[in-house]
Amino acid sequence: MRSLNFSAGPAQLPLPVLLQLRDELLDWRGTGASVAELSHRGKPFMALAEEIEADARALLEVPDSHAVLFLSGGATTQQALIPMNLCAPGEVADYLVTGHWSKVAIKQAAAICSVNEVASAEGHAFTRLPPVSEWRRHPDAAYFHVTGNETIHGVEVFDLPESDGTPVVADLSSNIASRPMDFSKIGLAYAGAQKNLGPSGITLTVVDRALLAREGMPRPDIFKFASHAAQGSMLNTPPTLNWYVLGLCIRWMLNEGGTRTFEQSNLEKSAALYSTIDQSSGFYTNPIEASCRSRMNVPFVLHDSALDAVFLEESERANMIGLKGHKAVGGMRASLYNAIPLADVHALCDFMQEFQRRHG
Ligand SMILES: Cc1ncc(COP(=O)(O)O)c(C=O)c1O
Repeated sequence: MRSLNFSAGPAQLPLPVLLQLRDELLDWRGTGASVAELSHRGKPFMALAEEIEADARALLEVPDSHAVLFLSGGATTQQALIPMNLCAPGEVADYLVTGHWSKVAIKQAAAICSVNEVASAEGHAFTRLPPVSEWRRHPDAAYFHVTGNETIHGVEVFDLPESDGTPVVADLSSNIASRPMDFSKIGLAYAGAQKNLGPSGITLTVVDRALLAREGMPRPDIFKFASHAAQGSMLNTPPTLNWYVLGLCIRWMLNEGGTRTFEQSNLEKSAALYSTIDQSSGFYTNPIEASCRSRMNVPFVLHDSALDAVFLEESERANMIGLKGHKAVGGMRASLYNAIPLADVHALCDFMQEFQRRHG
């Protein structure tokens, strides 16, 4: 029996994707082999890679001005590659600090370039976004990094900043494809696939081709976005199986109606859960300012932390997994990515109300 899976990532995959993966595992497209057993340079896989890029472009509405890369190393590796590729020696990069993952991005970048913290919401325990009036952007910044969705704190940036001549770099790991986004306004966006796009082990990067011309820092070829782009993301052996599953997920999202459909269902799912929390008279709380509450990751605490273990035990008995919150904020977290059906969220809300009746 499959669980109702609210994991923050690796996260639930769409059932039709898993079934197709199972059906094709021994003999993919009549090759007599699993996709994991074939050369990435052979015709079948090269054709697949082209199809997936076309599908990703269609789903995300990526303009021709931007390259789409499929890389390994996860989002954290991108956080190190970005300053290597976009900053020249001695240059500064701007970072907005909205939660844990902004800080991790800064940690990676600080080893490579100078980091200017534009503003931080840490003084407010990351329960809101730093207001624009507090931003201090560097006049010569090589780029401006923003975390589109803070997976741990549950804070989402619904309007990415305007570039104003400085390319915006966005970590979209946990909200890519959750709603339409205008990639023509983004210099570079990256997302580890394991939340909204597929399995872990592959990362999608969308980058304005104009940025690929930047000289960047002295670095090995394997760390150059331009080289990956020139070689169709096959500079070395890519994670072929993960790439294929990501392709199945993207095709599934297109078949379901694309990002506009998911925007609607993500609005409904998150509204249902936030309203359960807000109507619990303080039994459950989510401290995030309403305007930036994430539609993807909803952290909440119980009024008495002694109930945490009971909540997790009972929710597991009710066939729900992945609800334990990150240690940085404690309590619980429900992740509501595209593959999570509305019915699962309603079941979670019912469970929470029932739990409150018994333990409130
Ligand atoms: C917003 C965000 N950025 C970066 C990361 C790090 O991703 P990875 O583990 O793929 O390096 C995560 C992981 O959860 C994340 O949620």
